[in-house]
Amino acid sequence: MSNGKVFSDIADRYDRLNSILSLGQDQKWRDTVVSRLPKGTVLDLGAGTGAVNEILEPRRIVAVDPAPEMLALNHAGDRVVAVGEALPFADATFDAVFSAYVFRNLDSVDATMAEIHRVLRPGGMAGIIDLGRPEGGFKRRLHSAGTAVVLPIAGMSIGAREEYTYLHHSLDKHPPPETMLAGGELELVDTWRLGPMGFVWAALLEKS
Ligand SMILES: C[S@@+](CC[C@H](N)C(=O)[O-])C[C@H]1O[C@@H](n2cnc3c(N)ncnc32)[C@H](O)[C@@H]1O
Repeated sequence: MSNGKVFSDIADRYDRLNSILSLGQDQKWRDTVVSRLPKGTVLDLGAGTGAVNEILEPRRIVAVDPAPEMLALNHAGDRVVAVGEALPFADATFDAVFSAYVFRNLDSVDATMAEIHRVLRPGGMAGIIDLGRPEGGFKRRLHSAGTAVVLPIAGMSIGAREEYTYLHHSLDKHPPPETMLAGGELELVDTWRLGPMGFVWAALLEKS
């Protein structure tokens, strides 16, 4: 199953299940990142249904996502079907880039980070949040055993077992953000952990 197809298939049920799986905390977690971003024009990368729009306002929001079915449910003023690896915008267009729960789905983190750097103005900031595994071997193994059981069952409850089995596997796709995002063109300003056992990570980066 391709990344794009996963989200096209579950667009109408995505927000509800996301909220249940995060015990209603997903918006609070997004806000820890949004509150540290500059005002002005923001690119919401992998915007999906626009769950973050309310807390990004009053910024001008440009929502980008490869799944038209997700974007059709998004009420942002500007919606663009595209992937993070090839953004159809001029250099230095945005004051901020925000991306929530997307990085596990990217084909290339490096290509996407290069594009984020290109479209940000100097002094602009990028805020990223995604799910991963807790730090520490024991907690990682415990979390992995838990999601192997819980996610397919949760997915089954909305008729999307395959999609949520994909989610379980995607949690192991990347190294921690301190490793994955360091040493690139954007300066890694801060990272922090959220959620039970710290399985949610957030990162703030700046273009010099
Ligand atoms: C888990 S959803 C998150 C949606 C939204 N950001 C939120 O916070 O609810 C992941 C989104 O990433 C999008 N996506 C998948 N591959 C992508 C890519 N290469 N570039 C940008 N977005 C991508 C999917 O279509 C989907 O809408």
